[in-house]
Order: sequence, then C-alpha cells, then structure tokens
Amino acid sequence: MTQSIRLAISGASGRIGHALLTLVREDKRFELVSALVSSSSTHSGAAVFPELPASLRYTHAWSAVAADVVIDFSGPDGLTAALDYCLTHHAALVTGTTGIDAALQAKLSEASQHIPVLHAANFSLGVAVLKRLLGEAAAALPDWDLEIIEAHHSRKEDAPSGTALALGDAAAGARGTTLAKDAVYVREGRPGARRSGSIGFAVVRGGDVVGEHTALLLGQGERVELSHRATDRSIFARGALETAAWLAGKKPGAYSIDDLLQERGRGT
Ligand SMILES: NC(=O)c1ccc[n+]([C@@H]2O[C@H](COP(=O)([O-])OP(=O)(O)OC[C@H]3O[C@@H](n4cnc5c(N)ncnc54)[C@H](OP(=O)(O)O)[C@@H]3O)[C@@H](O)[C@H]2O)c1
Repeated sequence: MTQSIRLAISGASGRIGHALLTLVREDKRFELVSALVSSSSTHSGAAVFPELPASLRYTHAWSAVAADVVIDFSGPDGLTAALDYCLTHHAALVTGTTGIDAALQAKLSEASQHIPVLHAANFSLGVAVLKRLLGEAAAALPDWDLEIIEAHHSRKEDAPSGTALALGDAAAGARGTTLAKDAVYVREGRPGARRSGSIGFAVVRGGDVVGEHTALLLGQGERVELSHRATDRSIFARGALETAAWLAGKKPGAYSIDDLLQERGRGT
C-alpha cells in the first residue's frame, strides 16, 4: 500500500473545516496531522475528535506542522499563514478561501512558481461544469445581456461570492473582455439605462443558504438561465479532498479544478 498523504487543515473549526474533518476520518488516502485555527480561537487546545482517547488538538502553531498538503478554508490571514508554511516546507496548497485582495492573489501566483497551488472559488464539480457552459453561452450570444445572481447564508462576509466572480470572469474572458472593464456591482438611485456589454451582479444574503448561482443571458423575447444550487456544504470538502489527493506530489504550478477534470477525462 502507498503511504498516506500527511494533511493539515487550516480553518479546521469552521463550517467547511468541520465537513473536512468528518470526511477525512474515513479517508484512507490521508493522515490528518494538524487542525489549524487562529491564534484567538476559542477552539485552540480542544480535542478535534473528543470521543477518541488520544485525539489531535486544534492548534495555531504552524511551527509544529509536518504536512505534505495543506487544505485551507479560513480567511485571508489563515491563508497567508498556510501559504508561508507551504513555501517554507515545500508542501502543496489547496485553498478555497475567498474574498482575498490583489496583493494576496499575487502572492499566491508567485508561490506557484515554487510549490503546487490550487485556488478555487468553488470546489463543486457542478460549478466547474457551469463555468464551462457559461463561457460557451456567453461567446455564442455575444449581444445578450448577462446578469449573475448569487445567494448565500447570512454569515458570509464577502460579496459578490468568489464563485459569482469566477463565473463572471469566465463569461468576460469568453467575450474578450474583463470584469475590471465591464462589471457592474452596484445599482442604486438612478443608474440610467443598462450599458451594453456590461456584466451585472446581484447578491442575496440570508438564512442558511449553502450557495446558489444563476447566470441570466437576456435576449429580445427569450432568455437562457444557467443555475447551480448547493444543498450540502460537504460537496466543497469532498472536492477539496479529491483535489488534495491529486495535487500531492505534483510539480510546482498554478492548477485548477478544470485541470483535474481534463486529466481524468483523458484517463491519466
Ligand atoms: N471554494 C469553495 O468551494 C468554498 C466553499 C465554501 C466556503 N468557502 C470560503 O472558505 C472560507 C471559510 O468558509 P467557512 O464557511 O468554513 O467559514 P467559517 O465557518 O467562518 O470558518 C472559517 C474558520 O477559519 C478560522 N480562522 C480564522 N482565521 C484563521 C487563521 N488566521 N488561521 C487559521 N484559521 C483561521 C476560524 O476559526 P477560529 O476563530 O476558531 O480560528 C473559522 O472557524 C471563506 O473564505 C468562504 O468564503 C469556499
């Protein structure tokens, strides 16, 4: 049998962190070596699996971590710490943290010259396919108005969601433009008539919505609606674990879920 992959989870006390911990217990591909939380965490020092006699404990001490792969679902600070660890120890990094600024994005890109990095705004395979379909539809219907609507639970901190931005980015790219040029994030008061070619975003927040994304392509007398609804957040954890198992041992580089899907499609 091949050796299991030593895995550290950053943001382990969070919603996705918990889903990861639940799944990884049963996953023979991995050995869970660390469950990282913030230095101010109320979980620090607590047992990760209290029902086990010698359970791993939540920690904020990266200095004690010895991992092949880090999966990070925390926030910008947690991601920065995970990235620093991976660079120093040549570990692979899988991160789903969203709402990161341009400087951290640039740091991630730079790091991918030295270690394997996979940053995805959404680890669901359904969303990966939605992104492809939207790119195709946006290119085939270049004059139709494009709007992206997303809904998430009331505790989500960033908006629009990283997934909505990734969808918008795919559509913009397929039309030969960028979100920096054509996105419209706010409409209020009298914004005037819709600018042709713009890509509009609308955000809903409330309750326990796991994640819903709809792209509307609006023509004259007809429309196309492409939607994805996540009903269980374990899909993100499952996707992240699949990705981590695939990324471990890869050469340095910036990888995407599309790379994994394509490689699987080729049967390699
Ligand atoms: N890509 C995807 O598929 C996907 C899906 C869902 C969510 N997300 C993103 O993933 C991130 C986490 O989402 P979530 O819903 O799990 O949020 P969450 O429930 O708020 O969990 C985040 C956890 O990170 C921990 N944390 C904060 N700072 C940290 C640090 N410096 N080091 C280590 N841990 C730290 C916090 O725990 P303590 O306070 O205990 O430290 C918190 O429990 C968000 O950016 C979210 O948008 C991505």
